[in-house]
Amino acid sequence: MKKSMITSALVGIMMAAPLAWTGCSSNSDSSADVLSFDEVFYSRRSIRNYDATKKISEEEVRELIKATQDAPSWANQQPTKYYVAISAEMLAAVQDMVGPNKERIMGAPVLIVSTFERGKSGFFQGNQTNEVGDGWGAYDNGLSNCYLILKARAMGFDTLIMGMRDADQLRTLFSIPDSEAVMAVIALGYRAEDPRRSERRPLDDIVQFF
Ligand SMILES: Cc1cc2nc3c(=O)[nH]c(=O)nc-3n(C[C@H](O)[C@H](O)[C@H](O)COP(=O)(O)O)c2cc1C
Repeated sequence: MKKSMITSALVGIMMAAPLAWTGCSSNSDSSADVLSFDEVFYSRRSIRNYDATKKISEEEVRELIKATQDAPSWANQQPTKYYVAISAEMLAAVQDMVGPNKERIMGAPVLIVSTFERGKSGFFQGNQTNEVGDGWGAYDNGLSNCYLILKARAMGFDTLIMGMRDADQLRTLFSIPDSEAVMAVIALGYRAEDPRRSERRPLDDIVQFF
């Protein structure tokens, strides 16, 4: 899609024809395919049906994860780590570790397990800085994953963050040390559905001005 074809009625267009966006890969041959920040932001949706015929390379996943390294983190601790299933064998194994999500992500060519190193974010010289403790590690992990899902969209990919997963099985499969907390599994692929924007709470439910 040429950028000149994208009108200012951005959200409406993206909701009406989201499949038109699937070809917008960073590896395509034209800079005209680059999406604006708002185009990336508002066309991202949780995708629960993937096109199994489309693959993603290790090089592309590296580009994606490199982008997460620009995310902010507590005292620049960078506690997030990623374990990437990209071979057929590892994909099949992880598909069996995401419970009811399995059917939703069967066609995704990449599954990414995110973890964070405990005792880093929210800690100073080994001591917990405040009441949130390792919650700050989870916070930083969420920020990193937010960069990941938005960068994925900018590259023409789609994602599903999955909190329903078996942490113990994943820890064993990837030999994840106990010093890391297993967080979300993120499916990465190409949408094979026309997603709708799920309802959001009224703005005044979530913000108060003083
Ligand atoms: C931490 C977290 C865990 C989630 N876990 C799941 C999950 O296990 N299965 C699933 O289908 N969606 C999961 N989701 C996706 C949410 O349901 C989705 O983000 C929300 O409904 C808003 O829809 P949207 O992402 O399309 O805007 C999760 C999202 C987050 C942030």
